[in-house]
Amino acid sequence: MVDFKHFDTVDFNKDEDALRIIDQTKLPNKLEMLELDDEESIWDAIHYLKVRGAPAIGVAAAIGIAVLSKKIKEDDLIKFKEEFNRIKKYLESSRPTAVNLFWALDRMGRITENFEGQKDDLIKLLVDEAIKIREEDIEVCRKIGEYGLKLLKENYGVLTHCNAGSLATVKYGTATAPMYLAKEKGMDIRVYADETRPLLQGARLTAYELNAAGIDTTLICDNMSQTVMRNGWVDIVFVGCDRVALNGDACNKIGTSMVALAAKRNKIPFYVCAPTSTIDFSIESGDDIVIEKRKDEEITDMWYKEKMAPEGIKVYNPAFDLTDADLITGIITEYGIIYPPYKEALMKIKEEHNL
Ligand code: MRU
Repeated sequence: MVDFKHFDTVDFNKDEDALRIIDQTKLPNKLEMLELDDEESIWDAIHYLKVRGAPAIGVAAAIGIAVLSKKIKEDDLIKFKEEFNRIKKYLESSRPTAVNLFWALDRMGRITENFEGQKDDLIKLLVDEAIKIREEDIEVCRKIGEYGLKLLKENYGVLTHCNAGSLATVKYGTATAPMYLAKEKGMDIRVYADETRPLLQGARLTAYELNAAGIDTTLICDNMSQTVMRNGWVDIVFVGCDRVALNGDACNKIGTSMVALAAKRNKIPFYVCAPTSTIDFSIESGDDIVIEKRKDEEITDMWYKEKMAPEGIKVYNPAFDLTDADLITGIITEYGIIYPPYKEALMKIKEEHNL
C-alpha cells in the first residue's frame, strides 16, 4: 500500500508535456499512473473520475490546458487565443458541479486573455500558473488541516463521507487533512469512512489512503452512519465539498446531507472543509448549483458480477446533494473556520483576501 501523503495525486510529468495522474478508477487494487497529453484523454480522465475530487479536478484542468496549449500550432496570437478558448470550453464540459474546474480554467483563461507578446512566452506563463495552482493546493489543504486539528481531541471518533482525501487534492486532502496532521502529532483518532454508494469513493479511496497512513479506520455502509453516531462513537464529522453558495449551502457527494441530518439529531458538530477555490461567490444559494446526473449502470450493474436490479427499472442517480447551511456547524477554509451567518463571513474573506 502506498502512503498518499508522500505521493502527489496530480502533477506535470517530468518534461512538463503531459498531465500525470493516479488512475483512481483502478484503486484500491492497482496503483497505475497515467500520462495524458491529448484533449480527449484529459476530458475523459475528469469525466470518468480517473481524477476526481473538486481540488484535484481543478489542478488537473489547469495542468491539462497548459499541456494542451503547448500543442497549439497557431503562431498568430489571436488564433492561438481562439484555440485556447475552444479547449477551455471543452474541458469545462467534462463535469458540471465542482466549481474548482471553472475556477482553475478561468485563472488560466485570464492569463491568456491579458497577454500581449510572443506565443512561447504565453505558454511559459500558463505552465507557471498551473504550477502555482498546484502548489497553492498543497498549502491550502495543509492550512485547512491546521484549523481542523484544533477541533480534534485525543481518541476522538471522526466520520467522513466520500473521499475528500489526498486523492481528491494534490496532497493532504481537505476533510482528511486534520486527520493526517493529528497522525503527525501522534494523536490517536478513530475514523469512520462511509463507503459512499454508488461509486464507493469511501471504500476504495478514503479507507485505502487512511489505512495506508496508519490511521485507525473503520469502513461502514452509508446507511450505518446514524447507527455509529447513536452508538456514541462519533465526536465530529468532517466532509469536503464541490461548491459552496454565499448562504453557506454546501454541495457534496450524494449522501452528505443525510450525514448532516443524522449529526444534527445526535448533536454532533458537522464541519465542511472548503478551500476558497470551492466557494462560488456568484451564487446566493445551493439551489443555483447544477447537480451532475450519472449513468443508471453505476447503481444497477457496476461492482457486481451480475446485474443487481430488474432489467429496465427506472433509476435516479444524482452524483451530489445539497446540505442546507443550517445543518452546518462551521466551514473550514484556508483562512480559518467560519460560522453563521455565512454570507457575512464569506464576504469578509473575499474582501480581506482579494478573491
Ligand atoms: O464525484 P467525486 O468523486 O468527484 O466527488 C467528490 C466529492 O464529493 C468530494 O467530497 C469533494 O469533491 C471534495 S474533495 C476535497
